[in-house]
Amino acid sequence: MTEMIQKDLSAEVQEKVADWLQRFPDNQKQSAVLGGLHAIQHEYGYLPVIQMDALAEKLEMPAIAVYEVASFYSMFELEPVGEHTIAVCTNLSCLLRGGEQMLGYLESKLNIKCGQSTSDGKYYLKQEEECLAGCCGAPMMQINHVYYENLTEAKVDEILDALD
Ligand code: FES
Repeated sequence: MTEMIQKDLSAEVQEKVADWLQRFPDNQKQSAVLGGLHAIQHEYGYLPVIQMDALAEKLEMPAIAVYEVASFYSMFELEPVGEHTIAVCTNLSCLLRGGEQMLGYLESKLNIKCGQSTSDGKYYLKQEEECLAGCCGAPMMQINHVYYENLTEAKVDEILDALD
């Protein structure tokens, strides 16, 4: 994303946060932190520190507590990444059915290693994921949180071509 990072939360993020806040008691504002972080990541593709600070202020919680939540969940990115996030499962069921081979194929196809983005900013190959709860379709991966199962190299090619 090339978007300029704003100091304040955008109107859209503020609206989402307000929607979450009305679901919790007034003295539990921090309960909206996950919803707020999702909204910021949706806008920027990752979580800029300045935006997490703005969220902390809005939710009347220490900034460090927002950073702790953001760094705990693997669904949040703390640095800018490629447009399409690819997460290949290499946990047991997927491992037994070729998950590591699929990961290796993607690394060589995209010419990047796990944890890196392509130079054109199009793809981000997320660090190897733990079980993504799609074991019956092993080997599997998520792209932008959509599940793709029973992968083969040919199927991976088709899936990526469809993203172009
Ligand atoms: S082990 Fe890969 S989805 Fe469960």
